[in-house]
Amino acid sequence: MLTTVLEKMPNNFWQLLEQNGWQQHFTSKEDKRAKIAIIRTYTDFDKAKFAHFPNLKLIIRAGTGYDNIDLTEAKKRAVTVCNTPNANAISAAEHTLAFIAAMLKQQQPGKQIIQNKKWRETAQNCWEFAELKVLIIGLGRVGSRTAKLLQSLGAQVKAYDPYLNKAQFEKKQVTSTELEFGLGWCNLLSFHTPLTSQTYHYFSAKLLQMLQCPFWLVNTSRGSVVDIAAIKLALEQNKLLGAALDVFPKEPFNMPDFMRADKIYLTPHLGAFTKNAKERMAEETLQVWQKFVFENKIISEVDPRFTFRKK
Ligand code: MLT
Repeated sequence: MLTTVLEKMPNNFWQLLEQNGWQQHFTSKEDKRAKIAIIRTYTDFDKAKFAHFPNLKLIIRAGTGYDNIDLTEAKKRAVTVCNTPNANAISAAEHTLAFIAAMLKQQQPGKQIIQNKKWRETAQNCWEFAELKVLIIGLGRVGSRTAKLLQSLGAQVKAYDPYLNKAQFEKKQVTSTELEFGLGWCNLLSFHTPLTSQTYHYFSAKLLQMLQCPFWLVNTSRGSVVDIAAIKLALEQNKLLGAALDVFPKEPFNMPDFMRADKIYLTPHLGAFTKNAKERMAEETLQVWQKFVFENKIISEVDPRFTFRKK
């Protein structure tokens, strides 16, 4: 079944194709006859793209987030959309933890102090994990793994996730909270939601007013979940202890001046950029592909409730 690969895939993807003798099914060209398309983060599968591939039956999003695919159009055209939800969970949760550790231990301002030929008298206090009251927004694979890591280091953790019931929270061993209570309680806010019409600009000027304590902010989910202007406001209001962002509304990110502050920690969408995660992503992509092509089975179909379309 002709499969077009529209973005760069890890090396082991092509090796696996060769090992299995599947190369003849694949092309990197935008061949209109393709029945399957494999994409990653940066292909916008909008109406025009669907129109370009009239024979499409399946899109495999190598990775987790599928806000770049118009699910309404997919449904209209009877195209199934699948992703690889397990591949990046470890690396994204670890990326979150690393951001938090770097902020608590003042690693960025610490370097600046040395560069300015000063010493620790001019530094802010470092924090211990046990001082953290973490509110996780979205307790899926990455959110729950992050919660576990933080709990093991002594942080208090609560989570807000309107899609989970009591039994699911219990199974994940994380305390559930209502959003308003959680925002009043926490001193660290970490986002692990898909980008949907509901989560667009979740961190906003309005939400900022509901946070009662000076707070740390982490976003390793999707850039548009956080309104960058609200970060500026939080800095101006002196409420922000630090913000760590791996994802941005538009990538590559064109950084406004206030984002150069010592309190802002940035990485260029590296949450899934470990060797292991990339290899798993290629393997999971080909598992979805082979089930569909050889067994006519669909695995890892995305949840249509979590859909996003640009206004
Ligand atoms: C994801 O959604 O899985 C990540 O954004 C993966 C990526 O870096 O493409």
